[in-house]
Amino acid sequence: MAEFTLPKNSVVKKGKAHASPTAGKRLKRFKVYRYDPDKAENPRFDTFDVDLDECGPMVLDALIKMKGEQDSSLTFRRSCREGICGSCSMNIDGSNGLACTTAIEDVKGEVRITPLPAMAVIKDLVPDFTHFYAQYSSIKPWLQTVTPAPSGKERLQSPEDREKLDGLYECILCACCSTSCPSYWWNSDKFLGPAILLQAYRWLADSRDEMTGDRLNELEDPFRLYRCHTIMNCATVCPKGLNPAKAIAEIKKMEAERVI
Ligand code: SF4
Ligand code: F3S
Ligand code: FES
Repeated sequence: MAEFTLPKNSVVKKGKAHASPTAGKRLKRFKVYRYDPDKAENPRFDTFDVDLDECGPMVLDALIKMKGEQDSSLTFRRSCREGICGSCSMNIDGSNGLACTTAIEDVKGEVRITPLPAMAVIKDLVPDFTHFYAQYSSIKPWLQTVTPAPSGKERLQSPEDREKLDGLYECILCACCSTSCPSYWWNSDKFLGPAILLQAYRWLADSRDEMTGDRLNELEDPFRLYRCHTIMNCATVCPKGLNPAKAIAEIKKMEAERVI
């Protein structure tokens, strides 16, 4: 497991302790990063004891229980609860992942939860995705064509060409990979990072897209693409089992092989 730094603005103090309202035998202790921009205070870690006999199996279940029963001000994102929406990404026990698909029992001892590393924090476990989404928008993540669409028909794709999108279309834009990448920590202003580059390759690999040259021109830059130094944290950490490093290598290959 890769170890990660704490989020930006982190001089972290000891915080409040929240006892479990039920005195169960299977108490699990959580240390949760807290930060409220409306209070002029440094971030802190609060302690929550949760009775596992009264809680669902996943870290997200525990967070929902803490918020419901112990501290309603605890703030985090979640929606689908089944690894589809990407909104519950956070750092759990030193590794980025989805709270809804990370089993509490897989974490030995205390469970330390912080926001995704190296992003500004809006509140508690909620990072600011504004820059990440702007980078996503910059790669024009939609089908671009110049030829007219076949009259009355969809643009068709062979099963073989469709298979080339496997391992790419499943990305849920959770940012676990990008925020585990040291190159992205230091250069996220200019380096697109593994998530956005995997998305860029998703369109380069699509047989129906007709803007391959323009897309490669946009990426050919010492920072946007080539700040990937094959560190591979991105492939280790992806909760969907994807391999952004491989997608980046494919883009570099396309750049090297193309005839200008
Ligand atoms: Fe999340 Fe994986 Fe997509 Fe990265 S590649 S954004 S870790 S789903
Ligand atoms: Fe970063 Fe992955 Fe490259 S961790 S340096 S994007 S291989
Ligand atoms: Fe949707 Fe976790 S709540 S991925």
